[in-house]
Amino acid sequence: MFRLEIQVISMKKKLKIAGLVALAALIIIQFFPIDTTNPVSDPSQDIFANYEAEDALVIKVKEACYDCHSNNTEYPWYTRLQPVGWWLKGHVNEGRKHLNFSEFANYSEKKAKHKFEEAVEYTEKGWMPISSFKVTHPEARLTDLERSAMVDWFKEQYEKI
Ligand code: HEC
Repeated sequence: MFRLEIQVISMKKKLKIAGLVALAALIIIQFFPIDTTNPVSDPSQDIFANYEAEDALVIKVKEACYDCHSNNTEYPWYTRLQPVGWWLKGHVNEGRKHLNFSEFANYSEKKAKHKFEEAVEYTEKGWMPISSFKVTHPEARLTDLERSAMVDWFKEQYEKI
């Protein structure tokens, strides 16, 4: 009985210490914010400066894709909270690396064609925008009509090259 009591007390103590360590870690990581400065790019290199599209489509692609696939990322307030910010910045870095609409004109014809092909597939299959992004960005939730308009446009550009 007595032994059990000691065990319970030491368990509580351990939990308390673990909690304090976790809290301290959470506080410390706040001093390592993400870099929210956007890379500078020439607006003439943007995809829509080079491939014609209707305004509604341009707006939708900007709302649904540009936070991760352009140099015009808008960082919401919660990206100042770590580790949330680190996680989101990872998406932005990865997204830009794979496809950057702000630098699209720098792509070779072959690469641009391939990216359009990928865009058709990723959009058609609903892989993009990433689901977690849609939770906090209702404007990025595409209706069936918006999705098919986007897919058609990517397809058209693919076929033109
Ligand atoms: C929240 C960030 C985010 C948003 C928003 C987003 N993407 Fe992505 N996208 C990524 C990441 C990260 C990758 C790379 C990992 C992967 O392939 O899943 C990626 C990969 C891709 C690829 C593959 C490119 C390649 O050649 O490897 C395509 C195409 C793509 N996205 C298109 C889109 C389109 C179109 C939209 C808007 C309808 C969009 N994405 C919205 C983050 C995002």
